[in-house]
Amino acid sequence: MTADNKIGISFFGAGNIGSTVLKRLAEMSDEQGGALRDVVSVRHVLVRDLDRSEREEAGFFVEPDLLTTDVADILKDGNTQIVVELMGGEQPAYEYISEALKAGKHVVTANKAVLAKFGDQLFSAAARSEVHLQFEASVGGGIPVISALRRDLAANEISSIEAIINGTTNFILTKMGAGDDYETALTEAGRLGYAEPDPSADVDGHDAVAKSVILAMLAYGAMINPESVVSEGIRNLVSADVSAASELGYVIKLIARLQSENGEISVSVLPTLVGKDTQLGNVSGVTNAVEFTGDLVGKLFYEGPGAGREATTSAVIADLLEVINDQLRGIQPAPLIQPHPVQVKPSEQIESGFFLRLIVENRPGVLAEISRILAQASISISSVVQKDITGQETASSVPDSAELILTTHSSQRGSVLEAVELLGESKSVLQIGSVLPMSR
Ligand SMILES: NC(=O)c1ccc[n+]([C@@H]2O[C@H](COP(=O)([O-])OP(=O)(O)OC[C@H]3O[C@@H](n4cnc5c(N)ncnc54)[C@H](OP(=O)(O)O)[C@@H]3O)[C@@H](O)[C@H]2O)c1
Repeated sequence: MTADNKIGISFFGAGNIGSTVLKRLAEMSDEQGGALRDVVSVRHVLVRDLDRSEREEAGFFVEPDLLTTDVADILKDGNTQIVVELMGGEQPAYEYISEALKAGKHVVTANKAVLAKFGDQLFSAAARSEVHLQFEASVGGGIPVISALRRDLAANEISSIEAIINGTTNFILTKMGAGDDYETALTEAGRLGYAEPDPSADVDGHDAVAKSVILAMLAYGAMINPESVVSEGIRNLVSADVSAASELGYVIKLIARLQSENGEISVSVLPTLVGKDTQLGNVSGVTNAVEFTGDLVGKLFYEGPGAGREATTSAVIADLLEVINDQLRGIQPAPLIQPHPVQVKPSEQIESGFFLRLIVENRPGVLAEISRILAQASISISSVVQKDITGQETASSVPDSAELILTTHSSQRGSVLEAVELLGESKSVLQIGSVLPMSR
């Protein structure tokens, strides 16, 4: 506690989110009736550069006197009880959070990258020091996804989670669904500030993988290495995939899918065909959504802003209030995650229907050959649509070609990939367009 008996809060980082949290915290601590007046006091704010003019230009709210570039000012400050980490990235965030926990400070963070990679170590450190480690803003921005799993659904066996947890890719896919090609949609996402200058963390699926790993920790107590998650981004999708899916009644979404079946869990992040008439299929633009299926509660659907200054601030402050309330009441935090050995299903055994778009020779017998190859891998075809595309750009070098859109009944991923390899060896198959799972 500070000399005036307030709870001391310090920040690692005061950029987009940190400065917005500071602003709302100041409003909530307002002497004229703020809910936190006489309760909290901001002690220090760690940044890289004390004089960064961009901070002012962006309207970031930080009292200059609070700024420091020395993390020791916070770690050694006996009057800082809570640290809010909003600097991002794996390092030095991991080192600073670890030190803060070791020093007995509660930590609130929005950093999915550090939790996905070092969650195990950080949760153990928090448990050893008997302090909070809160991270509501790390998945789903303003949607209360973490507290849903931690509290509201705690009595349930979660059989599945299907989620759109990357707003940038959902924006791009929505634009592609409206007729844009991938590059045009990506440029538009950049212009609106939804995509970073280097968009790879989003479009290659790494951001969604990190968030899925966090969901797996909470839903199943599983510490999964992000590198072991089956994942694919949206970079290779073309308009032909989107329009073929649409003709079948589907949209393509980057879906994080977690499943628990017979004591095994599976986690994947893949562009997936989702029915146009489903709730997930109707989530458009940068919006995020998460569908939980629990054995007691059935299906629950959460939808809302997955990022942005205000929405993320809402989640960070919710965490802060929980820690403050416990501090005021002298309540010890219960260990959040109790990791236990979990059997992870080999990725080849993950099952779903599949969508295959192939460019093939347009001649009699080709469909029979493809059916034979799929049957050899025990893949059963659910539907086939063939379109003559002779002379179109994708097949310009081939005199007579057709686009074949196949969907399969539920099949193991490994069998489908095996069949695709065999299809690739067939002279009748000119190009494997896309191979995408379909949501159940
Ligand atoms: N933006 C969103 O919509 C959103 C949504 C959900 C979660 N998040 C998460 O929230 C966190 C913060 O994101 P943001 O958009 O606010 O980032 P940001 O605008 O880039 O701000 C980062 C802040 O951290 C400081 N910082 C960075 N590295 C540092 C270092 N090595 N030493 C000291 N200070 C350092 C920066 O200092 P300077 O000011 O000197 O550069 C800046 O104040 C990230 O973990 C992000 O993933 C963001």
